[in-house]
Amino acid sequence: MPPTSFSVVRGSVAATALLEDDGVDALAVALAPAGEGDDGAQPRAGATDAAVRYGIDLPDLADRHDATGAAGEVRTVHLPRALAGGGALPWAGLPSRLLLVGIGSGGPEDLRRSGAALARATQGLRRVVTTVGSDAGPDGVRALVEGFVLGAYRHPSRATAPSPPAPPAEVVLLGRHAEAAVTAAVTAAHATCTARALTVEPSDTKTPAWLADRAVALARAAGLETEVLDEDALRAGGFGGVLAVGGGSASPPRLVTVRYTPAETSRTARHVVVVGKGITYDTGGISIKPRESMVAMKTDMAGAAVALATVLGAAAAGVRHRVTAVLPLAENAVGASAYRPGDVLRLYDGTTVEIGNTDAEGRIVLADALAYADARLEPDVLVDVATLTGAATLGLGRQHGALYTSDDRLARGLEAAGLEAGERLWRMPLVPEYAEAIRSQVADVRQVPVDGWTGGGSITAALFLQRFAGARRWAHLDIAGPARATAAAHEVPEGATGFGVRVLMRWLGQLR
Ligand code: BES
Ligand code: MN
Ligand code: ZN
Repeated sequence: MPPTSFSVVRGSVAATALLEDDGVDALAVALAPAGEGDDGAQPRAGATDAAVRYGIDLPDLADRHDATGAAGEVRTVHLPRALAGGGALPWAGLPSRLLLVGIGSGGPEDLRRSGAALARATQGLRRVVTTVGSDAGPDGVRALVEGFVLGAYRHPSRATAPSPPAPPAEVVLLGRHAEAAVTAAVTAAHATCTARALTVEPSDTKTPAWLADRAVALARAAGLETEVLDEDALRAGGFGGVLAVGGGSASPPRLVTVRYTPAETSRTARHVVVVGKGITYDTGGISIKPRESMVAMKTDMAGAAVALATVLGAAAAGVRHRVTAVLPLAENAVGASAYRPGDVLRLYDGTTVEIGNTDAEGRIVLADALAYADARLEPDVLVDVATLTGAATLGLGRQHGALYTSDDRLARGLEAAGLEAGERLWRMPLVPEYAEAIRSQVADVRQVPVDGWTGGGSITAALFLQRFAGARRWAHLDIAGPARATAAAHEVPEGATGFGVRVLMRWLGQLR
């Protein structure tokens, strides 16, 4: 995807010579919904200046284009040019395309939607000057720019026709926008797009080895350290979970580690390890899925994509903490060497696990990776991200990730970051009584609840994972719902969303 370029120019619509530049295709201004006593949508930020410079009645123009000022709404107005030899129009020499951008409440969430709508409305244009968000403060500007980059994103396509979509417009933010907010927004949104593109890659291409190679290539380009364990190294290392889950596939599993170390070390720097579920395709294995539920399962490595994009994004943003991504990558296939219900696996830390359903593969590869992180990486905080259970989607739908942790401060930090980033998390309980459901007669623990146990499937999965995080500060994000969207809406495309990257990057930026 071509990168979007943003520049900040201090000045106002009233005075700037920028608008007379031939390369500027449009001016975008903000409208808010009518308040009590207003006739219609109201000009905001530099919109009144624009009306004066253009010599037009902007509220009337908005009204005649049915502009309501709602967030996500953009009305494109093409102003007429004068006839040769006719009189001069007041807007002569200015961009003849005016975009009326609804900003709703003007808060970050609505500005993110405005940014996404603006990206769509200006695709294929050269430069767009805008005053939207010029009165909003850093959080608003950050959201606007995030929305623009996220809204401009298109999934990579192998279609031979029609030609690829036009690139996004170059954006000039006119006003006193904080440059740091713009940079942070672009970094986080680009990282999200990296996760999206990896997640929609078809599984015939996206084998564990392929994904490991991509991770290494992206990490090297960013100057990060990497390590890849192949099948032999996994066997030597005792990764009985990753090996079992990947055992039925012709494409063997991998475990990738990507490390970011900040240039300056400080006494308060922490080490955060993010483990991401990387199932490159989930057939369910021998406990095979019904065909309808299998279709979306190329995205079952969304957690690994999020973990990878988070460490890349943290490096790009110059986060003050050490960040390590651990990606257990495996294809959960049906095959003669597939693991079976009833098998007892020995995981990295020696824990034995009785398998009840080979479709609950995510917790198995995560358990290995969490145990490895706990034993070898000395994390101050351990976070895992996974499209783990259909139960999380049943409970929360697609707008919230399920958050599990026994650490209240960690919960508050992640919840706050989620609200700010526009990726909401909902804390769920680690109900101690449900641990009984995963007690085994033949091993240390059962992978899934005993027959006859009802409900709480996302919770029992979290309880299973908890024991592999040891005594570490640990949080688990079940993103089975929000990792995919059934329809495009605002900054979120249909299909893979990259959910989790922005909340984790925000949280890392604020972690003390
Ligand atoms: N990858 C699925 C979870 C999933 C389902 C993600 C739907 C996104 C959309 C996971 O591996 C799985 O199959 N979980 C099972 C667990 C069960 C067998 C205990 C599930 O949720 O049904
Ligand atoms: Mn599964
Ligand atoms: Zn899965």
